[in-house]
Amino acid sequence: MKRHPFPVLTPAPLLLVLLMLSLVLAATVLSSCTPSQPGVRRKGEPDAPIGRTLFLKNCAHCHGADAHGDEGPDLHNLDWTDEQITARIRNGKKGQMTAFADKLSPEQIGQLKDYVRTLK
Ligand code: HEC
Repeated sequence: MKRHPFPVLTPAPLLLVLLMLSLVLAATVLSSCTPSQPGVRRKGEPDAPIGRTLFLKNCAHCHGADAHGDEGPDLHNLDWTDEQITARIRNGKKGQMTAFADKLSPEQIGQLKDYVRTLK
């Protein structure tokens, strides 16, 4: 019987190297992701910093990036209760302010309320 004209190279060592490289890569990517995921609340952290991010995204174009007012009023030193602020964010005001009940979760609305509360 004739021998095979092309010796078959065993790919095992190469595969092993590739496997190890991809493991190292995966480990690097994973470990660089875990420490601080933006938007994910760590235990004991107040909601205000998340609220500020939400504010910049949803409210700043009317109330100003520093919430000192633009199209909408200044939000510092409001003598509104938590419930009033939450209701305003949920319901908006016809012809003046967007209602956010369908755009944001109740948790996000709470975080925004917490942020507005920090404005002194
Ligand atoms: C389309 C522009 C607009 C957007 C977007 C907007 N607002 Fe307003 N907001 C207004 C206006 C205008 C008023 C004043 C309405 C009035 O005269 O009662 C107001 C009033 C308020 C009030 C009551 C304060 C006061 O003294 O009357 C709060 C609290 C408030 N906004 C929070 C927010 C938050 C938080 C967001 C983001 C989730 C937001 N607003 C997004 C325009 C906006």
